[in-house]
Amino acid sequence: MAPFSPGVRSFFHVFRSRPKAELHLHLEGAIAPATLVRLARRFREPIFPDLASVRARQRVGDFRDFLAFYRDVCRCLKTPADYAAVARDLVRRLSRENIAYAEVYVSPAVIERIGLDWAGVRSALEQVFRRFENGSGRRVVVLLDSARQWGPDAAHRVLDLHEASPWPRVGGFGLGGDESSVPAREFRQVFDRVRRLSLAPLIHAGEWAGAESVAAALEELKPVRIAHGFRAAEDPSVVTRLARLQTPLDLCPTSNVATRALPPGERHPVLELLRAGVRVSLSTDDPGLFRSTLRAEFLELARLGATRRELEAVLSNGFAFGLRPVRRRVPARRPRGISGPPPRR
Ligand code: ADE
Ligand code: ZN
Repeated sequence: MAPFSPGVRSFFHVFRSRPKAELHLHLEGAIAPATLVRLARRFREPIFPDLASVRARQRVGDFRDFLAFYRDVCRCLKTPADYAAVARDLVRRLSRENIAYAEVYVSPAVIERIGLDWAGVRSALEQVFRRFENGSGRRVVVLLDSARQWGPDAAHRVLDLHEASPWPRVGGFGLGGDESSVPAREFRQVFDRVRRLSLAPLIHAGEWAGAESVAAALEELKPVRIAHGFRAAEDPSVVTRLARLQTPLDLCPTSNVATRALPPGERHPVLELLRAGVRVSLSTDDPGLFRSTLRAEFLELARLGATRRELEAVLSNGFAFGLRPVRRRVPARRPRGISGPPPRR
């Protein structure tokens, strides 16, 4: 804390007690390592026999390594009760950090692939989220998600499930997974359908591929926000485009370092993007797998040189760029980036 200005220090002194919002979280990635070991130990040859084995996998070499880690985590989830245990880990962390609003990616595509019934898992999750909210003004919005590498058919299957039995908690649909696998244009019809279903279209881009992938996502799919997108910084014309369109980025610096999407030793461009007029909020992505906290994400932004005013703007942005309004808001400052018009809804 010592190298920070008094203003930045006082921002962090009250950080925990202030209501906060997080827009980019993956359910399975929120599993606590102890839960993962407990669930894994039920099998004869557990993938994660102890905490040391989890820690070893957290040191990922590259994105394929990370995806394999994520897949192995999912393999340990065998019942709706297991999913409920992960959701409890998630809301426990939200409570600990006083996060009043969270948007969480839940992947029926993964759930079906591991042989579970979507309706059963959904109802187990609903119970946990409802107990967390319980008239407190806190809110969890679900973002349905599929993996890019599974192509448009898998994405349509997720939308089929939603269309057959809409879950009111769902606010959007996103694509994660291997960004370099299937080009954005292949999902044009999926995203048209997403809009017809009144869901907000979202996509992971500019994480495992460069600025051109952000440009393609903007051009082909017109998302309301982009998950990550930090590699837009590689091309000033894409940064200008993001700023002009005012499409927010849900940035997760700790995740980018942990997965090596950001090469070791490189400076994360979050502050440069913010100062270029790009809308930015901060999230933890996979807090169970990376042992990340929202506080750590903001500390990183401060360490990169953000002023108190910039930290306040990014904190407010979490609420401002969320899909649904919340009752408890961060005390109003300018709910956006540093310059430009108010948020487009
Ligand atoms: N799913 C979970 N974490 C992810 C990440 N960092 N990138 C893409 N897909 C993901
Ligand atoms: Zn993500």
